[in-house]
This record gives sequence, structure tokens and C-alpha cells, in this order.
Amino acid sequence: MIYSKISGTGSYLPEKTLTNHDLEAMVDTNHDWIMARTGIAERHIAAEDEFTCDLAEKASRLAIEDAGVTASDIDLIIVATTTADQVFPSTACLLQERLGISGPPAFDVQAVCAGFMFALDVADKFIRTGTARCALVVGAETFSRIIDWSDRRTCILFGDGGGAVVLQANDAPGVYSTHLHSDGRHKDLLCVPSGVSRNYEAVKAGTAFTTMEGGEVFKWAVKAMSDLVEETLKANDMHKDDLDWLIPHQANVRIINAVGRRVGFDPDKVIATVGHHGNTSAASVPLALDESIRNGTIKSGQLILLEGFGGGFTWGSALVRV
Ligand code: ACO
Repeated sequence: MIYSKISGTGSYLPEKTLTNHDLEAMVDTNHDWIMARTGIAERHIAAEDEFTCDLAEKASRLAIEDAGVTASDIDLIIVATTTADQVFPSTACLLQERLGISGPPAFDVQAVCAGFMFALDVADKFIRTGTARCALVVGAETFSRIIDWSDRRTCILFGDGGGAVVLQANDAPGVYSTHLHSDGRHKDLLCVPSGVSRNYEAVKAGTAFTTMEGGEVFKWAVKAMSDLVEETLKANDMHKDDLDWLIPHQANVRIINAVGRRVGFDPDKVIATVGHHGNTSAASVPLALDESIRNGTIKSGQLILLEGFGGGFTWGSALVRV
């Protein structure tokens, strides 16, 4: 039996930070309100000449180094992003060229904030079926480009960033299971209601921005990510006490805490890094994973439940041993 296993992680946050006090000068808000409602103190914003692929490349190089492989070992590249550099080629192809790799498949997946979970699921299946042996799986976003910085209901939440893992074939898991869901009936609750084919005028006018029914998204995110914990544990005949860590999508500390409470999880075992980078969409889970491994919070051999939730709605989880 072939399994996949994360053998290296990397992440990158752009240099420029935007604090809550900076936001006070831009919209009618204040640090205390943002901290109380979201737990986010600052977010990172890509420079004008910095693009999603730049963030993906920096995170990927660190993951490749950490895994002790070389770019030539990589036989699959998947980038999860909602904010691709260009309409096409995919950001994965742009990344492939940067890394000096040619030949193996490279493609993007788009599942917004759950994107990394979808990408990890696909890469795991490539490896389990013997189609690939060493995959680079990335979540990277310049979400700041699709935010209306005069809308206080959304601009306080998001930031830019990239996270990556190298996933390799292994005799033992690694990835125990992955679980994906989508429900397009909720397409209007969290979206950018314009694009290349529809309402292109907004794109041309530079007003293709994220809209959100915050309260509804909050409720759905908590329910979906709580249900995912139960589903994932049940599928593996495990109990929550078997887990060392839960890494929910890093959207908002209140959502993260609510998920932990609902599933009866020890708060000390729930990872929250969102406070210093905001919601980085598809980058959020690999960012939190990489930071927690590098700062020694997560140790080799531990069992972690990763989960994402995003526009669509889309949601997914993975149970992994690192
Ligand atoms: N600063 C100050 N006041 C604000 C701000 C702000 N930035 N934004 C809204 N308010 C005001 C509102 O206008 C409202 O005022 P009113 O009562 O006079 O009308 C009041 O604060 C309460 O507004 P609510 O929208 O009810 O505030 P809520 O407690 O729901 O918090 C928030 C809003 C933080 C957006 C919350 O709904 C939330 O976290 N939702 C989840 C959204 C999320 O995380 N989305 C990320 C993308 S999805 C994902 O990744 C899971």
C-alpha cells in the first residue's frame, strides 16, 4: 500500500504589515472592535510588484529545502489560489517555470479558503495511485487585490501569504484520510460577483471586490468545520483524544474557538496563528502548519487534523501524521 506523507513545509508573508491602527486611518473602525470580533491584530500586504506566484515560490523553496529534495524530484505541482497572477497560464505553471521544472503536471485548484484542502486531497490521490511520488502542494493568495479597502465589514479580515508542503510517497500514513464537500447554493453569501466572463465591467473599473454576509458565513463555517472533525475521526475510528492538534482554517479567532468548543476540544490543542496574518484564504492552513512546526509547537510524529472552509461554500479536512 502506498500512502502520502508531508516531508517538508514552508511559508512566506509579505514584508509590509497593516495593523488595526493603520486601518483606523482608512475606515471607521478601531483596534479593540477588531480584536474582540476577530482576534486579528495585523495582516501582511503584498507589494505592488509582488504577485501570488512570488509568495508561492518563496514558500515552495523553503518546503523543498525542508524536505531535503531538489526541484527535479518534484513530479506534480498543485497551487490552490483564488487570486492567480494571470487568467492563464495557471499559477502552478508559472511556479513550475520559476523552479526550473518541466514536464510533470502543474495545475491550479480554486476552492477559495478551502483550496489547500482540495489540493492536498488531489495530490494524496495521485500518490496513492502511484501516479506521482513527490508533489509540491501550495496555497498562495494576494487576497488584498480583491478587497474593498473602504469596506470595514471585510477589509479588517484578510491578508496575503503563501504556504507549501512537499508530499511524498511513504510506506505508512502520512495522510490517513481526506474529506471534501461543496454546496453551491450558498454562492452569494461569500463571493466576488464579477470576473472575466461575467460582469467584466467591475474588473475593468477595478471594483471586483469580495462581498460577504458575515453572520451567515460565521455560522456555516463553525458548523461545517465542527462536522468535519466528527466525520474525519469517525472515518479513521479515532477519538478526539487521539489528536495532538487541530488546525482549523485561520479566518477569525472567534470561529476557531467556536469550533474547538463545539467539538469539545482542549483549547490548548487548537492552533491559531490568524492574529498576526489575518485570513490568507488558501494559504491559511499550510501557513499555520509551517509556523507551528518551525516554532516547535508541532513535533515530528504528531497527529493533526487540518481543515478549511471557504466561499462556494467549500469545506474539507485531512488527518495527517507529520
Ligand atoms: N469596525 C467597527 N464596527 C464595525 C465593523 C468594523 N470593522 N464592521 C462592522 N461594524 C459594525 C456594524 O456596522 C454593526 O453596527 P450596527 O449594529 O450599528 O449596524 C456592528 O458592528 C455589528 O456588526 P455585525 O456584522 O453584526 O458584527 P459581527 O459580530 O457579526 O462581526 C464579522 C462581523 C467580524 C465580520 C463576523 O460576522 C465574522 O467574523 N464573520 C465571519 C466572516 C469571516 O471570517 N469571513 C472570512 C471569509 S470566510 C472564511 O474564511 C471562513
